[in-house]
Amino acid sequence: MALPMEKPAPPQHIAIIMDGNGRWAKKRGLPRTAGHAAGAESFRTIANYCRTLGVKYLTVYAFSTENWKRSQEEVAGIMKLLRSYLEEALRDMEKNRVRFRFFGDLTRLSPELQKLCSDAQNRSEEYDVQVNFCLNYGGRDEIVRAARAFAQDCRDGRHSPEDLSEALFSGYLYSADVPDPELIIRPSGELRTSNFLLWQSAYSEFVFMNVLWPDFTPEDLDRAIEEYHRRNRRFGGT
Ligand code: IPE
Ligand code: IPE
Ligand code: MG
Repeated sequence: MALPMEKPAPPQHIAIIMDGNGRWAKKRGLPRTAGHAAGAESFRTIANYCRTLGVKYLTVYAFSTENWKRSQEEVAGIMKLLRSYLEEALRDMEKNRVRFRFFGDLTRLSPELQKLCSDAQNRSEEYDVQVNFCLNYGGRDEIVRAARAFAQDCRDGRHSPEDLSEALFSGYLYSADVPDPELIIRPSGELRTSNFLLWQSAYSEFVFMNVLWPDFTPEDLDRAIEEYHRRNRRFGGT
């Protein structure tokens, strides 16, 4: 009798560009905000599924430094969804065993939203999975901020320029204490990073999928992980 094949362990860090909400809504003749609401549902399902799989870090791109270009109505709709999601997450944190970190410049968010983010981040109960929520996040912005902070430390005498190494520089990024993602998934059919994790993705495996984020299921995540396991990661070696 053939023994069932044991599933290989999932990557410890998966990152997802949650894209395609607008197209999902358009296909149904709904306002874009309805697509974002459906996308928030997918996020709940996938975060939960990652926890059951034993994924340690899940980084999700929720709002980029470029997304402010959208209509005021759409931005306000996204912010409203974020608020209600975070309120719910704060209520259910113990049950869901999720820890939150936020990557991005939160100072541009409303004081109310900033407070919810810091409340979520300051809760440090027992947790199984760490969700890194990228909000007003841009990979270039993150690198510029890190460079500025290092320059300031040099000016203040805490460092000198020759101290700088890749490891030291990583410590100035939002992702300071988080290992690089092994797998980055972009649904929606677009084949670009759109300014996501520019530094951290140096050796990540990218899986691009032709499914819109609100339609993304745990089976799609399984498929992406299977694809990841088929890759031959060489890191420049042979
Ligand atoms: C991703 O979905 C959500 C955000 C960028 C906030 P989009 O809103 O970009 O969906 P499409 O790409 O227009 O379909
Ligand atoms: C990337 O998607 C940002 C998020 C999913 C939050 P975009 O929809 O903003 O990216 P582009 O505009 O297609 O490159
Ligand atoms: Mg998009």
